[in-house]
Amino acid sequence: MTRFYISTPIYYINAEPHLGHAYTTMVADAVARAHRLMGEDVFFLTGTDEHGQKVERAAQRAGLRVPAFADAVAEKFRALLPLLNASNDDFIRTTEARHYASVQALWRRVRDRGYLYKGQYSGWYCTVDEVFVPETQLVNGRCPICGNAVEKISEESYFFRLSAFQQALLEHYHRQPDFVTPAIRRNEMIAFLEAGLEDLSVSRTSFTWGIPVPDDPAHVMYVWFDALTNYMTAVGYGALEPERRATFERYWPADVHLIGKEIVRQHAIYWPAFLLAADLPLPRRVVSHGWWLMDGAKMSKSKGNVARPHEYIARFGLDALRYFMFREMVFGQDANFADEAILTRYNADLANDFGNLVSRATTLIHRACEGRVPAPAAALLARPEEAHLRESTARLITQVVEAIRSFQLSVALRDTWEVIAETNRYLVTREPWKLAKAPDRHEELAASLYVAADTLRIVAELLRPFMPVTAERTLAMLGLTPSPDGWRGLEPGTLKAGTVLGETVPLFPRIELSVEDLRQMSTDTPVSSAPAVSTQTSAVPAVPTVESAVIAASPAPEPPGTARVAAQVEKISIDDFMKVELRVAKVLTAERVPKSKKLLKLHVDTGADQRTIVAGIAEAYEPESIVGRTIVVVANLQPAKLMGIESNGMVLAGSLDGGEPVLVGFDQPLAPGARVR
Ligand code: MSP
Repeated sequence: MTRFYISTPIYYINAEPHLGHAYTTMVADAVARAHRLMGEDVFFLTGTDEHGQKVERAAQRAGLRVPAFADAVAEKFRALLPLLNASNDDFIRTTEARHYASVQALWRRVRDRGYLYKGQYSGWYCTVDEVFVPETQLVNGRCPICGNAVEKISEESYFFRLSAFQQALLEHYHRQPDFVTPAIRRNEMIAFLEAGLEDLSVSRTSFTWGIPVPDDPAHVMYVWFDALTNYMTAVGYGALEPERRATFERYWPADVHLIGKEIVRQHAIYWPAFLLAADLPLPRRVVSHGWWLMDGAKMSKSKGNVARPHEYIARFGLDALRYFMFREMVFGQDANFADEAILTRYNADLANDFGNLVSRATTLIHRACEGRVPAPAAALLARPEEAHLRESTARLITQVVEAIRSFQLSVALRDTWEVIAETNRYLVTREPWKLAKAPDRHEELAASLYVAADTLRIVAELLRPFMPVTAERTLAMLGLTPSPDGWRGLEPGTLKAGTVLGETVPLFPRIELSVEDLRQMSTDTPVSSAPAVSTQTSAVPAVPTVESAVIAASPAPEPPGTARVAAQVEKISIDDFMKVELRVAKVLTAERVPKSKKLLKLHVDTGADQRTIVAGIAEAYEPESIVGRTIVVVANLQPAKLMGIESNGMVLAGSLDGGEPVLVGFDQPLAPGARVR
């Protein structure tokens, strides 16, 4: 079986995780999941980078002993993983004993092969990036990477003979053109190599929070020598047990080190040089992505301009956040993180295009085909529209696989949404809602709904790496479970007629709140079905968790100002339901509310009293058309002021997400005051 080993960088624990870190983990997760679906033996690693001066100082600032501080912050990174639904196979901490053994083994091997020597380091050091900065590279006396102040250090140090590897690395870059991607980063590295390499200081004596140099404990290792080795530790390097050594043989070299663009040099020059010095195989690819920016600047803890993953998961749900981050960032380039952009994508792509399609197709099958996937007539499937959609869907499978292999997640989702749009257009052409009303056209109805359901099945299977919970929910609505064969054998046209559909549930209820409203939502909104904070231990795959959206679900358009944040759908008791007093009422007068497009002011008779209710139905009903109508109202709602008018109750109406409201009515006359239950 082909194996695929992918890693994220291990994250510094000087501060808490933010969405920039979450992005790398989510991309690695999507790619790992996709490779599993392709039938590969996947190993997906992430973890924390815990040594070095930066962490030591952060602990001092927090007034904690360094190990206690490290445990606390590392736990936050680990706990984020189930929240992100990360399917990592291991979580490595550089403070673990297995890692000490591995790094010291690598050090000895490099030393014994003659690539380490003792000297004196004197120069500049940036603690934020944990890098030595040559005098010539300072920008206005500051670090060229992060712009922070640098420190002068002068101390005894071990040096690694990096200069010995210039030629070997250049040859490697030419032999393996995809070693570093995207091309812009590869070119930067080649230019760096061609400019000549200086030996690298790889130990420090002015602090102690690090892995001691073997046989010379006055030195701790340079944090990057320690950190990069994590990729080998996790698959068994330096272990004595035969089965761990066999794991190393199986999984090393890694297939992909996925990283942010600021740490390419460490991964694409230092790391392969250490490995060449140790005569160990080099990782196959170093793939780097761009930065998430906030107002034009890199989101980073040192700048303090960070977005917190749990807030966005609470507002939009995890899969919506994953969708946004994968779709919005063209891989390799920077992207701006803006609440407006998420809200727009949520409502347009997820609620309208996808959510509505799934709900429309499955609802029609429930209504018109007794909830079973109808059997299509072959002749009808051979029509050009059907054949075209089938071809697009078949092509999509290849496109998504190719996009995954090149990390173009935004392209994979763009192509998927093109097929979703094509399916929407197909339904508009076939109009199954009309066919459902014409008994003599049942065959046409069956064919159109079959095609829609079958296409949605493929789309859902393809969405599994990106939006695992949404994919599973969509499949459940179609009466299916995710295919145990993954993407192998995936083919349009193979959905079994007669499959009994599951219940249709809204996937992405429209969010009617403004960005400001969303921002005001408490940042600690409970994420109702969020997983209990990590119970995951090393080497145990994260358990896929239930999607956790706490979003505004507004079943009927409501007047501005009354938009409510509905908690995630949860069961209520009959007593809870009975607390809502639903009554039949009659509309006595109706008029538009000045300066409002949506609101009508109604005067209604509830049987017990006459009262004013302001209702958000003006876009669907002319005032005069509803005078005299029997409606249903919530009679025991607390009064609310809307556009200066006191509203005493709420009118019930149904609507498809984003569609116009349709008033609830009765098929027989009922007098005002009758209770609805
Ligand atoms: N500890 C080192 C990596 C050692 S790997 C052997 C490190 N840690 S970090 O916590 O500072 O950053 C790790 C990674 O987080 C970055 O490489 C990048 O993948 C991700 N990101 C951090 N901020 C980010 C953005 N603003 N945008 C996108 N990714 C970001 O460097």
